[in-house]
Amino acid sequence: MCGVVGYIGLEDCATVILNGLKKLEYRGYDSAGLAISETAGALKVIRAEGKLSNLEKIFYQEPFEGTRGLGHIRWATHGAPTEINAHPHVAGSIVLAHNGIIENYRELRDKLAALGREFSSATDTEVVAHLIDSELKSASSLHDAVLKSLAQVEGSYAFVVMDINEPDTLVVARNAAPMVLGRSDTAAFAASDIPAVLEHTRKFVFLHDGDTAVLTREKTSIFDVSGTPVERPEKHIQWDPISAEKQGYKHFMLKEIFEQPTRIIDTLRGRADVEAGDINLGEVDIDPEFLKKVNRITVVACGGSFYSAMVSKYFIEEHTRIPVDVELASEYRYRKPIIDENTLCLAISQSGETADTLAALREAKRLGAKVMSICNVIESSIPRESDGVLYTHAGPEISVASTKASTTQLVALSMLGIWLGRRKGTLSAEQGRSWIEALRAVPTSIEAVLTNLEPYKDVAKTYASASSFLYLGRGQQYPVALEGALKLKEISYIHAEGYASGEMKHGPIALIDEKMPVVAIALKDTVYDKTISNLMEAHARGGKIIALVSEGDRSLSDTAEIVIELPQVDERVQSIITYVAVQLISYFIADLKGTDIDQPRNLAKSVTVE
Ligand code: AGP
Repeated sequence: MCGVVGYIGLEDCATVILNGLKKLEYRGYDSAGLAISETAGALKVIRAEGKLSNLEKIFYQEPFEGTRGLGHIRWATHGAPTEINAHPHVAGSIVLAHNGIIENYRELRDKLAALGREFSSATDTEVVAHLIDSELKSASSLHDAVLKSLAQVEGSYAFVVMDINEPDTLVVARNAAPMVLGRSDTAAFAASDIPAVLEHTRKFVFLHDGDTAVLTREKTSIFDVSGTPVERPEKHIQWDPISAEKQGYKHFMLKEIFEQPTRIIDTLRGRADVEAGDINLGEVDIDPEFLKKVNRITVVACGGSFYSAMVSKYFIEEHTRIPVDVELASEYRYRKPIIDENTLCLAISQSGETADTLAALREAKRLGAKVMSICNVIESSIPRESDGVLYTHAGPEISVASTKASTTQLVALSMLGIWLGRRKGTLSAEQGRSWIEALRAVPTSIEAVLTNLEPYKDVAKTYASASSFLYLGRGQQYPVALEGALKLKEISYIHAEGYASGEMKHGPIALIDEKMPVVAIALKDTVYDKTISNLMEAHARGGKIIALVSEGDRSLSDTAEIVIELPQVDERVQSIITYVAVQLISYFIADLKGTDIDQPRNLAKSVTVE
């Protein structure tokens, strides 16, 4: 939930760290800090409440230099988002920035207070800074003190630590929070995510849970949980640094909406075998014999990823005849789920770090399930703890509201459906072929949607001042209605509810009056006639209908205030197109309202707390 950047090298690093934090702003943005310490005993620390720009302002008023430092961008968990609670925290000679939550910090704090330690902040992090500083007295090095301290710490953490009296070292530790290490010819870097330092290096090492690392100007040494030196493989990251920038779009969200055709192609690349009507999932390291025996799929996910799972329930069940249970990860882990040896647990997560999903995955594993994940961030915690992983290739998603990650999840779930259907014998080669062809046609259909944004801007102009929206859909379009409502809430702060069209008459119809915009998804699919009847019920109560219809369908011209025609595509992939439509409605409404679209209030990109 926070972002950390550490640097030790030959160059002046304050701006390297500040620029790195800028790339991590999606991880948190309620306060930030920077510490530089180059020579023994020297330390300069600045911290600021609010966005990173506040910290930069302070820095540029009185810049300082140094070749070793660390920075932090915070999303508060313990203690209000104030300057005093901002990281880095300093205790004695220790300077520390942390992402995660120390679960036993109260106990540690009491113990340290009894030894005469005084705390200036309300954070769990400061306690660890004091703990390391107190261990330093009997330790042989900073790394030794960190190891001794971690043995007493419970919780999740990704730390970068420096001792002002040991100027040639930066120590890093990771447990259940992301941390990557990079190295260029002149420096070593530690960061919560790759884009933070991608402009300086493409060579990365991913720490495992329990790992610590000692970074010096010359070398990086990694140690496992027992403190034994280990080798972790170095990976070469291909991402173009500017792919993490806005590239001229007003917001990352809009840029990411427009990236969808390319990212869907990337996700299909090398996996779809049109001729065989099959999917090559060789990269998913799960015993194919097990997958053939699967008789139940339990999907665990949160938020938008949960809605992707709900969409997939329709097509996976229909085409594989395997029952699919879709579970909110936060509920799953506490409700004694039933698992047998033929259950596949599927965890879906863009970030791969969502605490609830990770915990649900661990619970499913503990109960004996095989776990597979669909994830966008390589080597993040969820894939690393899964038996097999199918990566979406959406690239880094910066906007808090998920767009390209969601649609590529739908593509990955379709691929999984085809793969399972072919192995189960419920999907013929011809059916597999036509499904793959439908998937391959999706990017062109999305491009067609993106060439005419006027209808979405019209919706925004007409309804941006509404205080509440209702989204209706049936069949696969029901979860799309939920997703549309979520997206609108997230970025425009307008209350919105998604409902299955057929459920409306059982309660929510009471809400409808002439002030209520109703986004009705009414495509020419198998439930078209039913959907139209439900929509008429809303219209009869004065609801202002915004209809998403199939291209050429003019039948709602008299009923709806605004009709948006969408390309008619194969029903199995139709939701991918309607996802884009609801994303655009939310985006243009939020843009007109002037909200902070990429970093909406109270939200963080990666929810690493329960
Ligand atoms: C989606 O727009 C949201 N930002 C949020 O609901 C998100 O999908 C959820 O927090 C799960 O995240 P994950 O996919 O990274 O696990």
